[in-house]
Formats: sequence, C-alpha cells, structure tokens
Amino acid sequence: MEQSASHTSRPVVLSGIQPSGNLHLGNYFGAVQQYLEFIDKGFRCYYFLANYHALTSLRDRDRLLSLTRSTAADYLALGLVPERCTIYRHSDVQEVCELQWILTTVTPMGLLERAHAFKDKVAQGIPADHGLFAYPVLQAADILIVRADFVPVGQDQKQHIEITRDIAQYFNTAYGEVLTVPEPYIPDSVAVVPGRDGRKMSKSYNNTIELFAPEEEVRRQVFSIVTDSATVADPKDPERNALYAILKLFCTPDEQVQWADRFRSGGMSYREVKQAIFERFMERFGPARTRRVELENQPEYVEDVMLRGAEHARLATLPLMRQVRDAVGIPNP
Ligand code: ADP
Ligand code: TRP
Repeated sequence: MEQSASHTSRPVVLSGIQPSGNLHLGNYFGAVQQYLEFIDKGFRCYYFLANYHALTSLRDRDRLLSLTRSTAADYLALGLVPERCTIYRHSDVQEVCELQWILTTVTPMGLLERAHAFKDKVAQGIPADHGLFAYPVLQAADILIVRADFVPVGQDQKQHIEITRDIAQYFNTAYGEVLTVPEPYIPDSVAVVPGRDGRKMSKSYNNTIELFAPEEEVRRQVFSIVTDSATVADPKDPERNALYAILKLFCTPDEQVQWADRFRSGGMSYREVKQAIFERFMERFGPARTRRVELENQPEYVEDVMLRGAEHARLATLPLMRQVRDAVGIPNP
C-alpha cells in the first residue's frame, strides 16, 4: 500500500477513553495496561481523551471540563507521558470532524443501525440522538486519521473497530487505497473486567473500583464486591467468581493457580480474598496514586502537555487529510 511521507516503518497505535467518569480497574486492565505495553515495544503511540464522544452521554459543561482535566492527569500519572507517547484532547484536533463527515458519505445506514450502543438505547425505548448514531464514524475518523495499525481496547469496543475496518474498506473501494485498515488488540486475559455487581465494570453502571479514589473509598469499593452465600468451608468455583476474576488480574500465572486451588478446596473466606485484592491494588497503583496527587498541583503542566500533544497529533494528520481531500475532490485549503 502507498504510504504518506510521514508514515515511518514504526507501527502506529491509537486509542482513547471518554472522560465521562473516573478511571477504573476495567479501563486499566482492559486498555491502559496495553497502551503501556505498546509504548514499551517502541511503537508510535497516540492516546487521547475522547471528550467529543463523551458529549453523547454527558450534558453537564462543568463536569465534562473537570473530568477532561482530571483524566488527563490520570493518564500522566499512569505513565502515559509526553516523552513516550502523544497524548491529547480530542477536541484540539478538529480535523477528525472533517474526516468524520467525509467518512459518513461512504458509511451505509445499515452498518450503524447494527451498532450495539445504538441498538441498546432503541431497545430500551430511549430516544437516540444523531450523535449516538454517528459515534462509530467519529471513532473511525480518530483511528484512520493517524493511520493506526493497532487499536488496544476492551472487548466491548470490538464491534466499533470492526465498523472502522468496514468504513476504511468502503472508502478504499470508492476512492483507491488511501486508508490503513487497523487491527483491534484485545488480549483474552483482560477482555472484560467484572464490576462490583458482576456485570462488566463501567462508569455508567456505578459498579467500579476507581484507580484514584481516596484509600478508604477504594477499600469500601473492594469490600462491596458482591459474592454468593457460600460459607468459609464451602469449595468455590474460581471460574464463576467475580472476586477471583479481579484478583487474578494482579497475580502471576503461578499465583493464579495457587489461588484457584484455594478457592476449590474450601476453607477460604471471601473477606480474605477482598483483603488480598485491596493490598495488591495499593501496591500496584501506589506510585501512580502518589504522582496523581503531585499533578493535582500542576494544572499548567497538564494543560501544556495536552496542547503540545495536540500540535504533534495535528501535524501527523495533515498528510493523510491532504490525501483524503485529494482523493474525493475537495480542494486542499
Ligand atoms: P466505561 O464503560 O467505563 O465508560 P470506556 O467506554 O470509557 O469505559 O472505555 C475505555 C476503554 O476501557 C475501552 O477500551 C474499553 O474497552 C475499556 N474498558 C472499559 N471497561 C472495561 C472492562 N470492564 N473490562 C475491560 N475493558 C474495559
Ligand atoms: N468508544 C471508545 C470507548 O467508549 C472510546 C474511543 C473513542 C476510542 N474513539 C476511539 C477507542 C478510538 C479506541 C479508538 O471506550
């Protein structure tokens, strides 16, 4: 495939999280952990705060502004730092909206009508707006605009990446091989992190364990993970147990086997497992939590990182945008 001059041989990775609530364990193990792995592998990584997307679920100006700021600090605290990747706010790279429009003109209605987020709202009788309907096309623009090769996400986003691939192929069929068709990256072991109520952990279900909540709140959240009525003596099936599913995220493969044996043989209380989760959580996220507190006092630094990241991302999008406009017959400004 012909590639733009700015496309080096380093594979490109892109992903984003909506700043519509506080980051939680599902976001970390389902997404951020893989973001860090790609950085370590030396890939060219773009990670952004999907504040345009968040408008589809959050209609509260002050809350959106404040969550966008705090999620930026969360990213930095977790190691997504400007020395190692490009981080930016979605809304600072407005070319994505232009690309979205062009992509909408090759996107069949049926493709979007099959999208889960849209279908779920309609099934619940909630009037869906056009933003929710068009959401997957904006997501496609985010990904295609940097020529991403890989998109690390949790299982719930698989369909969106498939839609992105379809849209890229529709475009390429109509106008020639301009767009790179990306691959999702969804490791089985962390595809879906269960929430405190056993459903998928999600900001929208009020069932999260938050990465940066005060320590006592984290303890409360961990100890409120719902369990069945098995007694201490009862053998427990680890494969059908949300506590085990969460604990294992923090364990080496050997430790996973040891804990699974303890579940099966009985004589182990759920309280003990919760305590182990809490301790491992604090150990794992302690340094990030300390850094997060420091960043609280450096709002100018955080803002500066976002603006410089956006500048970098915009520069990277220019060659692709020129090629797309040229392909469809829109003069370049
Ligand atoms: P939420 O459902 O809490 O609103 P987002 O939609 O912002 O989360 O998801 C951001 C990223 O985190 C996505 O890649 C998503 O797949 C991943 N993610 C969110 N929740 C989970 C989960 N419970 N398990 C695995 N990955 C998750
Ligand atoms: N839809 C994603 C989510 O809810 C967020 C997102 C927006 C995204 N644009 C993206 C993820 C591009 C990966 C790539 O989690």
